[in-house]
Amino acid sequence: MLARSSLRTARSFAQARNGAINVTKRSIASNASTVESPLRANIGVAVPTAFAVGTVAWYYRLYGGADALSPTEEGLHATSYPWVHQQWLKTFDHQALRRGFQVYQEVCASCHSLSRVPYRAMVGVFLTVDEARSMAEENEYDGEPNEQGDIEKRPGKLSDYLPDPYKNEEAARAANNSALPPDLSLITKGRHGGCDYIFSILTGYPDEPPPGTQLAQGMNFNPYFPGTGIAMARVLFDEVVEYEDGTPATTSQMAKDVVEFLDWAAQPEMDDRKKMGMKTIAVLSVLFALSVWVKRYKWAWVKTRKIAYEPPKNLKNNPRF
Ligand code: HEC
Repeated sequence: MLARSSLRTARSFAQARNGAINVTKRSIASNASTVESPLRANIGVAVPTAFAVGTVAWYYRLYGGADALSPTEEGLHATSYPWVHQQWLKTFDHQALRRGFQVYQEVCASCHSLSRVPYRAMVGVFLTVDEARSMAEENEYDGEPNEQGDIEKRPGKLSDYLPDPYKNEEAARAANNSALPPDLSLITKGRHGGCDYIFSILTGYPDEPPPGTQLAQGMNFNPYFPGTGIAMARVLFDEVVEYEDGTPATTSQMAKDVVEFLDWAAQPEMDDRKKMGMKTIAVLSVLFALSVWVKRYKWAWVKTRKIAYEPPKNLKNNPRF
């Protein structure tokens, strides 16, 4: 049944093809009688092309001519470092996260908030429950209002977020030469260059600004910061923290650890995301292979068939003709 219907289709295809050829023949014949100028014939192509070229030129004139900023205005482009945790099949180095958190707490937390990270997020990642709980309890948070409506302070819980160093933005600016230390929760995502940029900022302070540099009062020279004058002074110096695991606390080691920690703060789901990605790729590739096999199986009879025409032996004596 199926075979017969496919034969029929093949025949109608052939008819359609013949028809098409006839049509082309006719149209060639009719074209030969009228002579058109090449421009008129191509006007349908020429007009849209001219319009497209004109539009591109106009937009280029409007927006394309902007000069690139100089390195001073834009900041020196950060070197790209081979961050292991950014490779496809790698996780965060959880010991580095623990060290980075120590650097954040001992160095950065006095100026920068990390307001999107709760204590509970660190449990099982680089702190034990007890460590996280006792860290939370060191801070005081506003409790529920009591019967008189007064708000009393209570010790922190695992569900609390890391405390802010300043009461409000004004206090932060007043303490920092009117610059605002940004919240670091999403900083690796929020800055062009991400981890490379933050690492370069932290390690990029020269001992002395190059001769001829003009710095505003209280500003520090850092070639990686756009404008080169940054309100944050160099904060990382060798041995400024003492790591509990004995890792030598050099400036670059601390910068690397704290940047990895900040990258975790910005994307704490990264390890799970990569694991899920691997599972997805594994499952989908099996399903894909299966679907290729099923497709070939279903089409095999079509692809391997052979259509043969065997003329009847004796046409004249055949009653059907
Ligand atoms: C003494 C206060 C202080 C400390 C300590 C400090 N910072 Fe800052 N930081 C600032 C201020 C102020 C700014 C804003 C600079 C500006 O806008 O000129 C800033 C800006 C930054 C920026 C943003 C740069 C940009 O592109 O806008 C990053 C990233 C940063 N700090 C990271 C850190 C890290 C990491 C640490 C700890 C290792 C740290 N800071 C310690 C005061 C501090």
